[in-house]
Amino acid sequence: MAQTTHDATEDTRNRDIKIYVNGELLHRDDAKVSVYDSGFLLGDGMWEGMRLYDGVWAFFDEHMDRFFESCKAVSLDIGMDRAGILDALNRTAAANGMVTDVHCRLMLTRGVKVKPFQHPSLSRSGPTFVIIMEHSKPVDALQSRGIRLATVPQVRGLPMSQDAKYNSHSKLNCVIACLQAEQAGADEALMLDPHGFVNTTNACNFFIVRKGEVWTSTGDYCMNGVTRQKVIDLCHANDIVVRERNFSLFDTYGADEAFLTGTFGAQTPVAEIDGKPIGTGDRPVTALLRERYRALVADHVRQRQ
Ligand SMILES: Cc1ncc(COP(=O)(O)O)c(C=O)c1O
Repeated sequence: MAQTTHDATEDTRNRDIKIYVNGELLHRDDAKVSVYDSGFLLGDGMWEGMRLYDGVWAFFDEHMDRFFESCKAVSLDIGMDRAGILDALNRTAAANGMVTDVHCRLMLTRGVKVKPFQHPSLSRSGPTFVIIMEHSKPVDALQSRGIRLATVPQVRGLPMSQDAKYNSHSKLNCVIACLQAEQAGADEALMLDPHGFVNTTNACNFFIVRKGEVWTSTGDYCMNGVTRQKVIDLCHANDIVVRERNFSLFDTYGADEAFLTGTFGAQTPVAEIDGKPIGTGDRPVTALLRERYRALVADHVRQRQ
């Protein structure tokens, strides 16, 4: 059975959660959006994944920077400011009695259309704003076993088609990549950029460790991940050489360690790529960065409580 980077331990409390839909808090069975919604019809919307630790939304400002920039770039009027979004998040958490180990998907679409066609002017009743919040803890097996990646034919797009920096509802490029990885017998996809350099996975940013140096892509063609940037900053703060550079599959197969970053799983080790084991299974740099990241989150939370 494939595992995914977003596997969470089963939590029966999630069967009865309340979902925020345009200001209302509704049981998950009753939380619905229209079939005319721009998100459903076209994938025309933006989202953020965030985590709640001890009552604090980790790196809220960084997530909001990305969210507001994305919405501005596609002329999507959010209809509220950051304080309004924080209030909606906190209301949803309170309604669910959630304080820690919580993951949220905050989604904003161009709203309900008057006709089932593409033109944005057909979306006339304001945005649809939904927050799904779940009790969520990444499964331990992700850390011990690591993830298996396959390099796939689907590549990252050039920024003038659909810039990978949009955290858009439409993730078809990534979904196709993930399907190809599954068909190759792996858990998730390793995606190349249009020049053939290793770029990212379908759902997380990608790093390798070679001779004590940490390498990740230049940042072109991939999501400007909040966790990616935190790991780069942590390397600088801990005198670990970090390079944002082009590198190939050759460099990747020969790496000592590889890991993924994302808000959900923080840092997830990679066990193998295209059937080739990565390193010996000893992952000192990944373990150190994971430990430092955990401390960073803890400090961040303490300062905001
Ligand atoms: C394609 C892709 N890569 C990477 C990430 C990780 O970004 P972050 O660290 O901000 O969660 C995401 C998260 O939305 C993503 O969709």
